Amino acid sequence: MNDTIRDVVFVDGVRTPFGKAGKLFEDTRADDLIIRAIRSLLRRNPGLPPERIDEVALAATTQIGDQGLTLGRTAALLAGLPRSVPGYSIDRMCAGAMTAVTSVSSAIASRQYDIAIAGGVESMSNHPMGEGVDPNPRIIAERLVDPDALQMGVTAENLHDLYPSITKERADAYAVRTQQRYAAAAEQLSADVTTMAARSDEGWTVATRDELPRPSTSMEGLANLRTPFRPHGRVTAGTSSPNTDGATACLLADAETAAELGLPVAMTMVGFAFAGVDPETMGVGPIPSTEKALARAGLTIDDIGLFEINEAFAVQVLAFLDHFKIADDDPRVNPWGGAIAMGHPLAASGVRLMTQLAREFAEHPEVRYGITTMCVGLGQGGTVIWENPNFKGAK
Ligand SMILES: CC(C)(COP(=O)(O)OP(=O)(O)OC[C@H]1O[C@@H](n2cnc3c(N)ncnc32)[C@H](O)[C@@H]1OP(=O)(O)O)[C@@H](O)C(=O)NCCC(=O)NCCS
Repeated sequence: MNDTIRDVVFVDGVRTPFGKAGKLFEDTRADDLIIRAIRSLLRRNPGLPPERIDEVALAATTQIGDQGLTLGRTAALLAGLPRSVPGYSIDRMCAGAMTAVTSVSSAIASRQYDIAIAGGVESMSNHPMGEGVDPNPRIIAERLVDPDALQMGVTAENLHDLYPSITKERADAYAVRTQQRYAAAAEQLSADVTTMAARSDEGWTVATRDELPRPSTSMEGLANLRTPFRPHGRVTAGTSSPNTDGATACLLADAETAAELGLPVAMTMVGFAFAGVDPETMGVGPIPSTEKALARAGLTIDDIGLFEINEAFAVQVLAFLDHFKIADDDPRVNPWGGAIAMGHPLAASGVRLMTQLAREFAEHPEVRYGITTMCVGLGQGGTVIWENPNFKGAK
């Protein structure tokens, strides 16, 4: 048996435009969003014979209706992949697509697959958070988990309590900056955003860009917004990722297969880790998952030249930055803006982070390593470390 681990490469990633739940894609099926992302991925990589794809792993948090029926299989069939290509669905809430990537990558590294598609979709229009959940009564009766932990916005308020130095003003300033960074990077970002048909009362339109960004966001505009998760709280719509519809998909391969087929190498996986934390303060999840991933890879935080951290809430990013002693406005962190500006279609976002990091790597040959990381509902964090194939010389 050949037991050497193979290098896993991120070939390419795409996403649909992200829409505000209840707006742009309100009348669009979730499976149509992910099918569009897969078809776009195939079109961008004509050198890939579709029959060579060994797996299609797709994430959704609510796996019912248009996100059910084993989406990985149904979307693969509907996207026109050969019937011989298998697929499955996967769920780790916000880190669904990230887990799809780490799962298929593990299989590629261990020589079970050569090429796989991973991605995710969330229509928060069709499936609002918590739809159809039936928490075990023990959770409440025995207070195994504080019921607050089931409400993500409340966990963000809890984080402000835990870290009093993360003030509302700091969170607001972070949100203003991420909106500005997104606005400045719109052109680079559009390279990986496919068009998507959308239906509205006025008829069909073709969406070409994200619906959610608010480039004119200011400290003054954020100062007096409602705090929907707690009276007199600190978390507002301006410092939260909005409820979002969207889909992402990416292509992963072992390095030799990529070379054989002439597929580009945008990033090489170094390692990954997931970690559990208190569900009531789930936003700290990226801290232990990053510590764990770095330790396993034999790296330190100082080796990381670019960070793509999902902005579920500003406070949670700031907790991560404080822990690692990184400044709030460090240019290495979400340099092109994050989920507060562009949106967070839960299970899809992990691949959005990776696609963005891949594009940033190409522009930063001085950077060797980058990470994608995110917090997860019910208290988890996920981190994937990537190496830049364009790296030239010292960091
Ligand atoms: C925070 C949240 C409740 C807000 O939802 P909403 O009320 O539908 O949001 P809106 O876009 O209508 O914004 C609310 C108000 O804030 C204003 N606002 C939002 N962002 C703003 C900004 N950047 N600058 C100025 N005003 C802003 C809106 O204009 C709106 O004002 P209005 O009430 O006068 O119309 C919702 O986005 C949410 O639940 N987010 C978290 C999602 C989540 O938990 N995801 C999982 C993470 S783990």
